[in-house]
Amino acid sequence: MPHPPLRLGVNVDHVATLRNARTGRNPDPVRAALVAIEAGADGITAHLREDRRHIRDQDMARLKAEISKPLNFEMAATEEMLHIALATKPHAVCLVPERREELTTEGGLDAVGQHNALAPFISRLSDAGVRVSLFIAADPAQIEMSAKLRAPVIEIHTGAWCDAVVDGQAARAESEWQRIVAGARLARSAGLEVHAGHGLDYVTAEKIASLPEIAELNIGYYLIGEALFTGLGETVRAMRAAMDRGRNSPGNPARQASRA
Ligand code: PXP
Repeated sequence: MPHPPLRLGVNVDHVATLRNARTGRNPDPVRAALVAIEAGADGITAHLREDRRHIRDQDMARLKAEISKPLNFEMAATEEMLHIALATKPHAVCLVPERREELTTEGGLDAVGQHNALAPFISRLSDAGVRVSLFIAADPAQIEMSAKLRAPVIEIHTGAWCDAVVDGQAARAESEWQRIVAGARLARSAGLEVHAGHGLDYVTAEKIASLPEIAELNIGYYLIGEALFTGLGETVRAMRAAMDRGRNSPGNPARQASRA
């Protein structure tokens, strides 16, 4: 029997990280989203952080207005974000833990410890027709609590596994992998749709794609970094061509001076 399709959600946060380094308009995360969709992405993911370090409110509004595929709005469970999400009405919201001092989303949500706080967010978003997912570690207690909270989707945090693979720590990578395999199965058997993401690259994405329980991968940082290398040569060629055109154009004073 063929496996069910595996969706790719492309996270465009780090296009905005680059844009914000110069505070201007380029590179534009919405343009990146359109390129990703053109190339086969099934959806676009963006994380509006409390400190707006990459995606900003206007980016989220433009993504919702300008892309033709589902928007997955990642956010912390705060009243401010809930208000923005309800106004934006994305296809999905992925609730993530957030700490200001972290470089990225370092761990999963503690659904067990915070079930009372999370429950109203899940129900208010669900009531508004938004599909809620909880970003959690592949831990049985967290998975069972996610099902109890009636979140339709979980996203398994793959960061620890990916780090172990990249660092060549074979034993740790294997135990993290087994945790993911068991977690994906448990979640499916509890009726949850299972997504996964964080730190995935070509190698780890290929491996996790073999798990039929997983319906969607959300990938950002590696893709944006890799795009520099696959795209930089082409971009330098286009710049070279623009400069050559300018230098050789008939009205160019430099050209006329060299003729005189
Ligand atoms: N999924 C979630 C819930 C995330 O928070 C992130 C990081 O923003 C990702 C997926 C994508 O991770 P990465 O950028 O490492 O591919």
